[in-house]
Amino acid sequence: MKRALTPGTFDPITSGHLDVITRAAQLVDEVVVAVAASPKKQPLFSLEERADLVCQATKHLSNVRVVPFDDLLVDFAEKMGATVVIKGLRAITDFEYEFQMTALNYQLNQALETLFIMSPPQYMYLSSSIVREIASLGGDVAQFVPECVNEALLKKFSA
Ligand code: PNS
Repeated sequence: MKRALTPGTFDPITSGHLDVITRAAQLVDEVVVAVAASPKKQPLFSLEERADLVCQATKHLSNVRVVPFDDLLVDFAEKMGATVVIKGLRAITDFEYEFQMTALNYQLNQALETLFIMSPPQYMYLSSSIVREIASLGGDVAQFVPECVNEALLKKFSA
């Protein structure tokens, strides 16, 4: 049983995230989408809301489950019995940050591999922070996010 983690803050999940999760689910037996608490990022959506949106967006994928976490990624991976972390890699600007996290995670646990899936061109410049900004200013983000997220953003910013 090959189990992978796809970690992130998912504030909120975008179509780019969903592309990575879908492709990861084709490579391993089970994908655990690890939704990080990330308190320092002061997320727009609560951890429960973010995990719920990821659940709704991935409900058609039978080998994907969603688990929130607030510990070290390497510890959480061990707890879940995952031996690989799969992440998306977008434009070159992602590289430095991802390289740092991958190197440190590897130093903390050499048994945990990190693999990257390249974003397709349409998601190369898509991020949760840009989606939040567009939505907060009344822009239409329907083409960038799953339907449930579009609805949640409309609700969040209509208040
Ligand atoms: O979507 P994000 O915010 O870029 O994802 C970053 C995330 C959640 C993968 C990263 O912050 C993480 O792994 N957090 C868990 C705490 C941890 O292990 N920190 C040390 C990383 S070297």
